Amino acid sequence: MKFQASELPVGKPEPRRKASRLAPLIALVIVITIPLYYPALRDSWKQLYKTALPPYVDSITPMEPPPTENPCSPDCHHDKATAVDNHLAPIRKNNDKDKRKRRQQKGVQWKSSSDDQSRYRGEIRRRVSDEDQCDLFSGEWVPNANGPYYTNDTCNAIQEHQNCLKFGRPDRGFLKWRWKPDDCELPLFEPRQFLQLVRGKSLAFVGDSVARNHMQSLICLLSKVANPVDMSEPLDQNQRYEYREEDFNISMFWSPYLVKTEKTDPNDERRPFKLYLDEPDLHWASQIALFDYVVISAGHWFFRPTYFHLRGRLAGCLYCPEPNVTHLTAYFSYRHAFHTAFRAINEAGFRGVAFLRTYAPSHFEGAAWDKGGDCVRRRPYRRSEVELEDYGFQLYLIQLEELRVAQEEGRSGGTFKLFDATVAMLLRPDGHPSRYGHWPVENQTFANDCVHWCLPGPIDAWNDFLHQLLKREIDRLFIA
Ligand SMILES: *[C@@H]1O[C@H](CO)[C@@H](O)[C@H](O)[C@H]1NC(C)=O
Ligand SMILES: *[C@@H]1O[C@H](CO)[C@@H](O)[C@H](O)[C@H]1NC(C)=O
Ligand SMILES: *[C@@H]1O[C@H](CO)[C@@H](O)[C@H](O)[C@H]1NC(C)=O
Ligand SMILES: *[C@@H]1O[C@H](CO)[C@@H](O)[C@H](O)[C@H]1NC(C)=O
Repeated sequence: MKFQASELPVGKPEPRRKASRLAPLIALVIVITIPLYYPALRDSWKQLYKTALPPYVDSITPMEPPPTENPCSPDCHHDKATAVDNHLAPIRKNNDKDKRKRRQQKGVQWKSSSDDQSRYRGEIRRRVSDEDQCDLFSGEWVPNANGPYYTNDTCNAIQEHQNCLKFGRPDRGFLKWRWKPDDCELPLFEPRQFLQLVRGKSLAFVGDSVARNHMQSLICLLSKVANPVDMSEPLDQNQRYEYREEDFNISMFWSPYLVKTEKTDPNDERRPFKLYLDEPDLHWASQIALFDYVVISAGHWFFRPTYFHLRGRLAGCLYCPEPNVTHLTAYFSYRHAFHTAFRAINEAGFRGVAFLRTYAPSHFEGAAWDKGGDCVRRRPYRRSEVELEDYGFQLYLIQLEELRVAQEEGRSGGTFKLFDATVAMLLRPDGHPSRYGHWPVENQTFANDCVHWCLPGPIDAWNDFLHQLLKREIDRLFIA
């Protein structure tokens, strides 16, 4: 599989959808696209560092901006990335011989997919899943009049920027859906049962602000029956919560790239980061063996300008100005980061269960995030209405492939499981804060947030998933 330059979103977001009535206005973009007229690509990196941060990036709780524009010049060398990528992906080339198992394709459409690609996706998806269990992740959103299960008034763990009710989001329909797998039911999160299940256990989230978004949803869903002691330092991105009576701990390890990362300018987060792609971020990796469960994820940060180091030496970059540095893709760093992170979990002597929470697409429509792009839909898509954009398809495949590698290598130690959020979240353009993550300020325009998820909101379903996934693991121990 080649990563062609043409797969990069250079050009206006191109809507391709079945629901033709909606077609003209819509584009589902996972990273930001470059208008065709985008001038002087070679100089555009300079502009990047001057870009104003969106409103939900503040100095008190520094969060990442959504993906920056892609200033990759037409001569970016993607083939080099492909060569190394294939080296790390031993099974990607395998053909799908297993036609017996082919079912009617019920999942969402995969925009980039030729038949080969979608067959390949199905095959690897099958290989990383528990085949003896119902596939929780392929399904649709169905109405649920009973939601939500907490509000901004009952849960105080909601981060301001995701507190959509507080900031005046007028509609409530986005709270009235639940996830229905095709072949079974996904029970709603049940806080008491959950706390029984995890008594004596510890859970770590490793990732970026979307991982934290997930954790805060969990704390809110639990808040009906228990509230934790917050052991976090006020300004620390890393957090720790202790449910003392229930003997359950949650930690959040802030690690948006999963690997060792250095700033090139210690005072400016917008300057490119240096990634040491074959060295894990020891901040989490050195402690991970202490945990029973890990939910690991990474996403939008990989589209920012970055320098890539391998074996301690500069091996390439994404969107850097130097002509003599090899220009590689975000796929390159994404694959290496997961490879290194999973290897670190294995090598740390981790004996628990690590869940890969797959990429959650963003939903900027109409324009790029910093050009007024927004997410104003008020209901979920049906599967037939939307396709995963190329970028998302590639990131998702990379995650599945590296999960497969980790499962093979981890046979004697930790267990690696799929936590597939991609399809469900692709269908929720209505679940983002948009402009309801802050109060409006006169004469000031803010970028809309179509990356994170309102709380309460569709991300609460991730804890319906988590509850079932943990239950399966614990049941398995008793059966084994
Ligand atoms: C919660 O949101 C409502 C509006 O839906 C608002 O009136 C109220 O002040 C908010 N409460 C808190 C604690 O933010
Ligand atoms: C939770 O954290 C506390 C304080 O570090 C520790 O004493 C306790 O053993 C932990 N419990 C679990 C289940 O990890
Ligand atoms: C690129 O060129 C600059 C200036 O000529 C030099 O200092 C630097 O070491 C070169 N970098 C690489 C990776 O070759
Ligand atoms: C906003 O803009 C208007 C018109 O330009 C101006 O009269 C007003 O003073 C501005 N308000 C603030 C708070 O800057």
